[in-house]
Amino acid sequence: MQRTFLAIKPDGVQRGLIGKIISNLEEKGFKLVGMKFMKVSNELAQKHYGEHKDKPFFNGLVSFITSGPIVAMVWEGKNIISAMRKIMGKTNPLDADVGTIRGNFAVDIGRNIVHGSDGEESAKREISLFFKEEELVSWNQDIQKWIYE
Ligand code: RTP
Ligand code: MG
Repeated sequence: MQRTFLAIKPDGVQRGLIGKIISNLEEKGFKLVGMKFMKVSNELAQKHYGEHKDKPFFNGLVSFITSGPIVAMVWEGKNIISAMRKIMGKTNPLDADVGTIRGNFAVDIGRNIVHGSDGEESAKREISLFFKEEELVSWNQDIQKWIYE
């Protein structure tokens, strides 16, 4: 089993999409192991988006992610890092397939609703940036035998 970091960005929260997004992931069969409703500090935003610090959109990205509350989550499941990226859809929502979160709910690249880790290393890094070990919950999902063979 793999873990990934997923955040519903300020646009997703403002647009009332928290429930729909979480519902979608629960219905898929993934397991929620950590969740926080929070505001991202400037310092955390700079760290989180550190890989983009030389990009022209960096300042806009940091001010956007700090502009309102987000939902930070850790989800667990089989191959979940790449599976989550598929469920999210392409970065530019106009290129994202219908049925994906971005394809269904977004138009603009700077308002694309969700963030998800893009690999094993970034997943580890982002989970530990947003969560302390003791804030992650290991629990037995009883329906797992109907999801995994
Ligand atoms: P994310 O990190 O948010 O999950 O998105 P991603 O991996 O699909 O895209 P990434 O390349 O990591 O970019 C991070 C976020 O920066 C914004 N962006 N704007 N104006 C632009 O050209 C541009 N490129 C990226 C997007 O909001 C993207 O999600
Ligand atoms: Mg990214």
